[in-house]
Amino acid sequence: MEQTYIKDLKANLDKEVVLKGWVYNFRSSGKIGFIQLRDGSGFAQCIVSQTSVDEQTWKVMEEMTIESSVEIIGTVSKHPKLDEYEVQVKTLKFFQRAEEYPIGKKEHGPDFLLENRHLWLRAPKQWAIQRVRNTVINAIYEFLNNDGFIKIDSPILTPAACEGTTELFEMKYFDEGKAYLSQSGQLYIEAAISSFGKVFDFGPVFRAEKSKTKRHLTEFWMMDAEMAFYDHVKSLELQENLIAHVAKKVLEINQKELDILERDKTVLEKIKAPFNRLTYAEAIKMLQELGSDIKDGEDLGNDDETLIMQKFDKPLFIEKWPAEIKAFYMKRDGDLALCDDMIAPEGHGEVIGGSQREDSFEIMHKRIVDDKLPEEAFTWYLELRKFGSVPHSGFGVGLERLVGWMCGVQHVRETIPFPRMINRIYP
Ligand code: 4AD
Ligand code: MG
Repeated sequence: MEQTYIKDLKANLDKEVVLKGWVYNFRSSGKIGFIQLRDGSGFAQCIVSQTSVDEQTWKVMEEMTIESSVEIIGTVSKHPKLDEYEVQVKTLKFFQRAEEYPIGKKEHGPDFLLENRHLWLRAPKQWAIQRVRNTVINAIYEFLNNDGFIKIDSPILTPAACEGTTELFEMKYFDEGKAYLSQSGQLYIEAAISSFGKVFDFGPVFRAEKSKTKRHLTEFWMMDAEMAFYDHVKSLELQENLIAHVAKKVLEINQKELDILERDKTVLEKIKAPFNRLTYAEAIKMLQELGSDIKDGEDLGNDDETLIMQKFDKPLFIEKWPAEIKAFYMKRDGDLALCDDMIAPEGHGEVIGGSQREDSFEIMHKRIVDDKLPEEAFTWYLELRKFGSVPHSGFGVGLERLVGWMCGVQHVRETIPFPRMINRIYP
């Protein structure tokens, strides 16, 4: 008989099914055993009654351990009160009887859980987060595909920095000198717009960030989008529509997961375009009024991002930052960079960084020289401004912060399957 998945139990009411999975929890009271089974698609209760099973099956029940892998054959019934489906067990077999499981029902600290990430991934909350992550990824692809974007995979091994040189993972690259792990595919997908118009990449990026905060990983996933003939304003509209689409899909697909996470869904329901907009100057003024000691010209810290969102219940674009604290490739309007940070509510911080790009060869060349960037490594990037340069904009979405926001999970380490941080590379 074919395996049935727990998500399909309802459609199999009163039928005999074969379930395969892991025993998330179990208990026995006299002649009756209850197994909480997890099979990847969901969770279900399976009931073993000593009087209606053979001796072999009851023996397995008596030897049951948490996280044992099992095969269950039984009949699907409806829970007497809840909208849940159960299985009345006929036979129960071990694939493997699990040893004593290290993650118990008692509270564990984050270090212990991270050390056991390979097992912790099985916990219902972690199951829910990764399924929301999957929805977020698919929703981003769906939105961009429907909007005429082409996916262009950018390289991970690169000869130069994209986002400043202080956070680079460096390695020796044969006889070619040094190579660096990519911090963002942006510069490469800028090259692709002249061939494809609107493009994106989506993959792992690396930053040797010394920051030990709940928002920083050393390896995380970024979706970079780049659009020919988009100015700063048009780029903001695209960003808010994209994020609104993601929230809509999470609400559509992940009701059960959001329940497990005890997520306040009204927060997600409010994620609709248009988002709030402030200039950097307005944001600084508001922060000072809220009691921050931030000064004009300074970058916003994590605390400032959280503080300012007290005023907003949906995302905020902070646009037009002082050029000197932003990246070399941003187009300027006087002393200001035509850029934006999208800040999420509830302390999830900056989720998107974007800008219109400098499209003049002369200005970009001068900037690379002034910033003392290695000119040879940027020759190709500069050349893009010589052969049919156009106004263009783009942005990068940090996947883990976006998932954390959707899930209401404050620390990004729970939003990626195997987090890499300055003090963690195992497992
Ligand atoms: O703001 P960032 O540095 O922008 C860029 O890299 C641009 N080149 C993107 C572009 O225009 N195509 O990074 C983009 C986003 C941030 O807003 C944040 O969400 C996330 O990436 N991010 C991190 N997420 C986790 N850990 C880190 N260390 C992160 N650094 C940035
Ligand atoms: Mg940024």
